[in-house]
Amino acid sequence: MKFFIDTANIEEIKTAISWGILDGVTTNPSLVAKENCDFKTVAKEIVSLVDGPVSLEAVSPDAAGMVAEAKDLAKLGRNVVVKIPMTSEGIKAVRMLSGTGVKTNVTLIFSANQALIAAKAGATYVSPFIGRLDDQGWDGMQLIADILQIYSNYGFKTEVIAASVRDPVHVVDCARLGCHVATIPFAILKKMFGHSLTDSGVAKFNEDWKKVEACKK
Ligand code: E4P
Repeated sequence: MKFFIDTANIEEIKTAISWGILDGVTTNPSLVAKENCDFKTVAKEIVSLVDGPVSLEAVSPDAAGMVAEAKDLAKLGRNVVVKIPMTSEGIKAVRMLSGTGVKTNVTLIFSANQALIAAKAGATYVSPFIGRLDDQGWDGMQLIADILQIYSNYGFKTEVIAASVRDPVHVVDCARLGCHVATIPFAILKKMFGHSLTDSGVAKFNEDWKKVEACKK
């Protein structure tokens, strides 16, 4: 399973890279707005830092505008993936970009039909937002299962990025289903390392090691 980090914060990205487990980054306009108003500068820095796919979102309302934006963003690096919203104009743009070498990530996916349409248009990735579905009383994890099943039925190559991840259990549940990627906020990625038994175990080993050191004296 690939781990992407869902952030536009450079320090968070650098820390996750230092852990040696990061496969890519996803951003969106809301995440960029939290960091810096100069989108191109932030985008360039992330693209050069990360050795893996970096999703950057196109914001034009129409297909022609999205395609132009996508081609421009793709110039930032070979690892750029252009995020395109799941609208009819977005799907037109994905179809126009498929086969041009520009990778796409169809975002704001909330149903299996939307994921099916995106795959048929040639999307490289789809991003179902599981947390936002759960928030509304729907079952985000069932959506991941349905999309994986449908893609497997027809041999679609489109990869599924579980997005809007809210807790470490989401990640485990996605891994159980064989989801290709989870894009995880920094705070949740950090929580995935922890277990109280690990902490108490390390403390006990360190304490006992002091006794071993003391024997030498
Ligand atoms: C995914 O690519 C999105 O950036 C993200 O996961 C949205 O998550 P949110 O529902 O926490 O905003």
